[in-house]
This record gives sequence, structure tokens and C-alpha cells, in this order.
Amino acid sequence: MVTHPLSQASHSESARLPVEIRQTRMLIDGQWVEAASGKTFETVNPATGEVITQVAEGDREDVDRAVKAARRAFETGPWPRMDARERGKYLYRLADLMERQIDELAALETLDNGKPIADSRHIDLPLAIDCYRYYAGWADKLEGKTVPVRGAYFTYTRHEPVGVVGQIIPWNFPLLMQAWKWGPALAAGCTVVLKPAEQTPLSALRVAELALEAGIPDGVINVVPGFGPTAGAAIAEHMDIDKVAFTGSTEVGKLIMQAAGRSNLKRVTLELGGKSPNIVFADSDLDAAVEGAFFGLFFNQGQCCCAGSRLFVEERVYDEFLERIVHRTGRQVVGDPFDPKTTQGPQVSQEQFDKIMAYIESGKAQGGRLLCGGQRVGERGYFIAPTVFAEVRDDMTIAQEEIFGPVMSVIPFKDVDEVIARGNRTLYGLAAAVWTRDIGKAHRLAAELKAGTVWINCYDVFDAAAPFGGFKMSGIGRELGSYAMNNYIEVKTVTVAL
Ligand code: NAI
Ligand code: MG
Repeated sequence: MVTHPLSQASHSESARLPVEIRQTRMLIDGQWVEAASGKTFETVNPATGEVITQVAEGDREDVDRAVKAARRAFETGPWPRMDARERGKYLYRLADLMERQIDELAALETLDNGKPIADSRHIDLPLAIDCYRYYAGWADKLEGKTVPVRGAYFTYTRHEPVGVVGQIIPWNFPLLMQAWKWGPALAAGCTVVLKPAEQTPLSALRVAELALEAGIPDGVINVVPGFGPTAGAAIAEHMDIDKVAFTGSTEVGKLIMQAAGRSNLKRVTLELGGKSPNIVFADSDLDAAVEGAFFGLFFNQGQCCCAGSRLFVEERVYDEFLERIVHRTGRQVVGDPFDPKTTQGPQVSQEQFDKIMAYIESGKAQGGRLLCGGQRVGERGYFIAPTVFAEVRDDMTIAQEEIFGPVMSVIPFKDVDEVIARGNRTLYGLAAAVWTRDIGKAHRLAAELKAGTVWINCYDVFDAAAPFGGFKMSGIGRELGSYAMNNYIEVKTVTVAL
């Protein structure tokens, strides 16, 4: 590692930190560089509110440099041209290096994001590594078709990489979102400019360092940390980016699409917000349903796009369910995210903390019955007690808007048709879940709920092979699985006169 004023500053700091901060500059064309403006921004430890370190603050000029490097790597570099199986090997190597550094990466993620170390180490990292391995296997499996056309012609399709890809990711699963974006893009032979979230830039930079160590050629991956309206917007508007992939708020998703429309009609995929119905029937295994409802909402401090944030419970078991869910919530261990026993860390930022507290107030004001939580925990950091509201009505703000925090809304319902209609009465359509022992009912709901994923008697089960994405305003396109490869290819039709 090259030392420079920034990294020296972070080194003296890191004596007190649970992990060494190795990279705080941006990666452009295989080089670690400062921002063209020389500016930096602070990244904060959400458990304490203290500044961890300064990170190079990318803007338009840096994005432009990164795009030029990515363009060069795409047009003249080895990456899209090498044997596809060879390209896969680099992704396997990156996965191996991440596995070698798994404890370090988990600590970095917990430091920057606040998620419990047990989650970083045993959920985020294994899923991210698995995702790279899964897509390594796709590199040599992009097959075109031969097409039976009329006349004396031979027609076939080629699946070619789309080109230079801009990727903008959020802070809730930094390493995993990077893997969902990089895996298929790199396997397809694209080159990439990634902007991590301003709240959590550190792990993306470290993985980029590992990608260089894995031998991924210069310019193939570029990482430009910075803010949304500056670096992010520069990606969305850039005339020489062929495709943009975004995960984050629905509000910004619209901006990305508008920017693509105003500029060069770059291809757009969006993975946005949700207000997912989690539906518990009286005929379910109630122990499993309580556990699933708890996990489906409180996992990751409630900061999940697919959180089961409208928890519909059939009237016949409503009171019993409330009693059990409050009891379960009482066992949540809120505290130092580096304590292996902790199950809930801080929210990611002051901004998110304030937003969630405002939703809690609105829930109370609009007549929700607060069963537990509702207040901050401790005096520093952004901790919020796990909160459960009962008697939530569909028209309340907390039942309509994405809270993105540890706030559960339990909503009673009477019968199947009613809950399908109410479950679908939202602008979103990311996920849904159904808890029942009646398999006919389960599959009927799976068919009728308008959501990109329906879990039956489980929640938040993710696999690199299973596509994920939204209906309606939850997004456009699918990530993961074979489906995600389509995001990164252009189909070319070749016709030969015989
Ligand atoms: P955001 O959508 O503003 O941020 C996500 C990413 O987009 C970040 O990298 C950010 O820098 C970038 N960005 C922001 N404005 C941009 C712009 N004008 N052009 C291009 N890129 C831009 O989300 P934020 O502000 O962090 O959180 C707000 C709410 O969004 C949350 O409370 C939550 O409801 C939702 N959210 C949803 C996520 C999901 O996984 N679907 C992830 C993060 C937030
Ligand atoms: Mg924002």
C-alpha cells in the first residue's frame, strides 16, 4: 500500500479501530488517486457517531476519468476479449481472496455500517463470496441461438457485453450489493464504474484492492466514492456509459431513469423500495411465523428493501401473535455491533435515525398502539429500540411508506380475498410472504400477490441463483440468477446469405 497524507491519518486512527483502514482513495484505471478537486468526506461509525476516516470525494471530473478508463479497457483491453472461462477464473480468484480476508472484511463492514459482526461475518460475507463464485460460472455460459428464418439465410444471435456500466449502490448491504452488481457485469465482459454509498465507502474500496490482487486488468473496475447528487448524478447523465444499475430509494430511481432519458438512453435497471406484506394465517405453524415475522422485519436493523413491514395477521390468532412477537422482540440484543452476542446494531446514520423516529411519532399520533420500543437506546450512536405497533390501519403513514428501521406494524385481517386485495394495495411490489399449512392457499397467494419474490413459510431466503427484483415502483429488471445476465448483454442478430 502506498502511503499518503490521508492514509497516514487513517493509520494513526486505526490503532484504536477494530480493523485497519487500507484504502481511502478512489480507484481509477488501476491507480489509487485523490479526487480531482482534492476534496474528501467523512465516513462515520454509526455505533459512536465518531468519524472513522476521510475518503476521497469523487465528482463529475472523477467519474469522467473513470469512464474513460473503463471505455479504454472495454474497447482495447483484454477483458471482453479473453476466453470467457478465463474471465470466470478472475472472479473465482476474487472470491478466494475475499474468503482469505473474511474476518477483516466483516469487521470493516460492521465498522462502517453498524451491522452486528455476527451478521457481517456469517450472512453478508458468505452471500457476497457465493455471488462472485456463482457468476464466475456464468462467464462461459452466455450462449446465443440459431434462429429458423424464412429463405436461404442462416441467422444466429450473439450475446455481447453491453459495454461500460455505471453502478450506484446503497449502504444497507455494501459488500453484497457490490457483488450483485459486479458479479454478472464482470462475467459478461463489461467494464465498471461503481459508486458506493457515501455512508459506507470502505468495504467497496477494500474489495477493489482485492480485485486488483486477483489480477483483474486496469480499468475494468473503477470505484468512485462520493455523494449522490454529484458523483451519482454524473454517472446517470454520462454520455459514454452504456448501462446504469441502481439500488436505493424509489425517489432517486426516478431521477436515474430521467437522467438516462435526457442523456444517451443508457439501459436502466432499478432495485428500489418496498412495503412488503407478510401474511400470517391462523392455520400456520405460529412459532415459525413469529420467528419469520421477527426476522423479516428486524433483520439488518430493519434496513432491508424487502422488509416485511406490513405484517398482516389473521384475526383469530391476532392477540396471541402480538403476545408472542412482543416476547420475541424482548430477546433482541441491541448494542455494540462488535460484540458477537449483539443482534441489533445502530441505524446507519443520523439522517436515517431521525427519519425513523419521526415515523414512530406519526404511528403514535395516527392511533397505532405502541406495544414496545419507540425510543432511542443509549446516549451515543444511532440505536433505536425494536418497536412494535398493533392496531395499524392501512391508511396510516407507517403502513404506507418505507420506514427502513426496526418498526413493526401488525395489521389484523379476516379472510383470504381481503388480505390479497389489501396486500396488493401499495405502489410497491418487491416481496411478500405467506405463512400457512394449507398448500393450496399458499400457492394461490403466490400467484395473486404482485411482488417479485414470494416466500412461503420462510422469509429473506436469498440465493445467488434466485432472481430478485420488483413489480411496480419497486424497480425494473431482476438481479441474481441467470436473469441478471440479461442486464449486461446486448443481443446481436447476424444473418448470412447462404
Ligand atoms: P438514496 O437512494 O438517496 O441512496 C442510494 C444511492 O444512490 C447512494 O449511493 C446515493 O449516493 C445515490 N444517490 C443519491 N442521490 C442520487 C442522485 N441524485 N443521482 C444518483 N445517485 C444518487 O437513499 P438514501 O438517501 O440513502 O436513503 C433514503 C431512503 O431510501 C431510505 O430511508 C430507504 O427508505 C430507501 N433505501 C432503499 C434501499 C434499498 O435497498 N432499496 C437502500 C437504501 C435506501
Ligand atoms: Mg438520498
